[in-house]
Amino acid sequence: MKKTIFATILVLGFTTFILLFAKNASAPSSKDSKNAPTQSETTSTFDKTTHPLDQPGSLWWIVSKVRPINPVSYAPDDLTVPKVALRSPSSSESRLRQEPATALENMITSAKKENIKLLLASGYRSYQLQVSVYNGYVLKLGQAGADKVSARPGTSEHQTGLAVDLGATSKECELEVCFANTAEGKWLAENAYKFGFILRYPEGKYDIVGYDFEPWHFRYTGVELATEMHNQNIQTLEEFFNEIPDKQPY
Ligand code: DAL
Ligand code: ZN
Repeated sequence: MKKTIFATILVLGFTTFILLFAKNASAPSSKDSKNAPTQSETTSTFDKTTHPLDQPGSLWWIVSKVRPINPVSYAPDDLTVPKVALRSPSSSESRLRQEPATALENMITSAKKENIKLLLASGYRSYQLQVSVYNGYVLKLGQAGADKVSARPGTSEHQTGLAVDLGATSKECELEVCFANTAEGKWLAENAYKFGFILRYPEGKYDIVGYDFEPWHFRYTGVELATEMHNQNIQTLEEFFNEIPDKQPY
């Protein structure tokens, strides 16, 4: 009898030991959880070389003060007028490349379902048109002032046919910083990435992008990149692709 009790205690003790050991072996230690990969590490499968950054016409083409358009005469060959409300229907600026035009139509249709009414204020601008836009700003603000808000000809994203200036059909705060506080500006800031557009000149990024905050200017990059940037909480192309300029040239 004594022997049986002793054997039972032995078996129970051994089983408890085995169970405890197995539990500890499978549970991550606090050290392991500290070393767990972050979200950006787990999403590192994103291929940053899918589209070139320097090639005219590339979806990920980075155009800026330090990355001028080359050749300067570049013009897209698939410009089309998107079927959306337009600020100036007869203007040559109402055109976009085919892919962003379709994406813009989808975005503006989706916004409308939430009672957000958007229009296209300005899309593609030729080199020549940018000459007159930029010169207009120089007359108004002087060159230093103009360089904070308007691209010198040959350096504007609008020449790629992938950039849009958007506004509200009410015209509230059109092309003004206060657009950020309108229902339309807020909706775009939250939702544009789902359609492949990024806010290209965010607040407080002058040293990186070379321009003051433009809550109306969006750049089409495709849904894949815009979503990845959103998920990683990275706002600018320069930061995402590690292409931050040492300093802005002017
Ligand atoms: N306003 C932007 C920077 C442009 O002129 O392209
Ligand atoms: Zn713009």
